[in-house]
Amino acid sequence: MRICVALSLLAALPAAAAPPPGASSCAGCHGGGGMPALASQPAGAIAEAMLAYKAGERSPTVMDRIARGFTEAEIRAIAAWVAAPR
Ligand code: HEC
Repeated sequence: MRICVALSLLAALPAAAAPPPGASSCAGCHGGGGMPALASQPAGAIAEAMLAYKAGERSPTVMDRIARGFTEAEIRAIAAWVAAPR
């Protein structure tokens, strides 16, 4: 029954709290372990890092491919969402 509780909690949240497209995938890698945490960083720093990966200005292993899949507007929306405390 736990899933029902989770679903009703989700439904009760305002629409603005829903993750923008792509944002929920970030936690799969950045949610723990040895990965750089995203939630502790300001949205501006996350967006700048993503845009640098997209532009090929950082040497990544995977983030360039991920960042290239998003427009700058999408990156800024994702950065604001993952940086927000919750
Ligand atoms: C497949 C695993 C994976 C996913 C999914 C992923 N990342 Fe990453 N991320 C990495 C790795 C690995 C690095 C370290 C740089 C590299 O090797 O590419 C990184 C680095 C970063 C950095 C730089 C952090 C720092 O402190 O320098 C940011 C910002 C970032 N990712 C944001 C995101 C966002 C936003 C998403 C969701 C759209 C995301 N990542 C999805 C694996 C992932």
